[in-house]
Amino acid sequence: MRRPCNNLPGAQRTAAFRPLPAHSCAPTACNKCLCPHTSLASLHTAASCQTGTPIRIAASTAMNDRLKCKIGPSILNADLSQLYKESQRLLDNGADYLHLDVMDGHFVPNLTFGAPVVKCLRSKIRHAFFETHMMVQNPEQWIEPMADAGVDQYTFHIEPVKEIIKTCRKVREAGMKVGLALKPGTEIDAVRQFIDQADMILIMTVEPGFGGQKFMTDMMPKVQWLRHNYPLLDVEVDGGVGLNTIAACADAGANMIVSGTAIINAPDQRAVIASLRETVESSIHKCSV
Ligand code: DX5
Ligand code: ZN
Repeated sequence: MRRPCNNLPGAQRTAAFRPLPAHSCAPTACNKCLCPHTSLASLHTAASCQTGTPIRIAASTAMNDRLKCKIGPSILNADLSQLYKESQRLLDNGADYLHLDVMDGHFVPNLTFGAPVVKCLRSKIRHAFFETHMMVQNPEQWIEPMADAGVDQYTFHIEPVKEIIKTCRKVREAGMKVGLALKPGTEIDAVRQFIDQADMILIMTVEPGFGGQKFMTDMMPKVQWLRHNYPLLDVEVDGGVGLNTIAACADAGANMIVSGTAIINAPDQRAVIASLRETVESSIHKCSV
């Protein structure tokens, strides 16, 4: 039986009896989302995920979707000469997904890696969910190469993009989920009209470009606003998130947690990931009772 996956923008997931478009896919053919059938899936390709026949889903089913806590370590400050081993270790220690920081030296004053490196990593790690955080001046340029590399979610900054809706559409057409990212200086108003086009909103809690910076507590009102107005939307925080700052993120309503140095440098990665998760899950639980 075909089931819907979460690879749809929020508005579509909750619409009553709305036919689901191309991303309705067989459980055995898709690991493009973080929904429960992910573990059953074989490696997706953009092509395999476009083959789903449109189906209908009752509102009651869609409304049963629960907000889930997902911990996505950033590998930016890991030993990148050991990218595969470091990534696998994070997954073995309980990471739900990998947050891959792509920088072009223009949008941010740092350079990391691009699609060829992601593709190599994908060839060794076939089933994990890959999010690329595109800190690049022209996100449209890298949509196809990243889809081809096996990326599941393409999170791009809205600041340099003129045609955000068109870019969202292209990301989705390439078979990836859409994440929209905001730098600290970007107000929530700048993204409001595009939230229904996205699967996730990323609120940066440092200036993008480098790991190991200080967490900006004053970004929390943006997270609160998103959670208040979009109870089931995936809201991600990134930058300076660790054991000392997770409570602020969880209280504000973030459910997707990117954490770099706090996990990478920990002597016990598993314990840190578990602790981050426990804090977020208890906040989600409090809100739902
Ligand atoms: C910063 C990156 C982050 C960063 C997170 O521009 O987007 O993903 O590496 O690392 P920490 O948690 O150390 O701030
Ligand atoms: Zn990042």
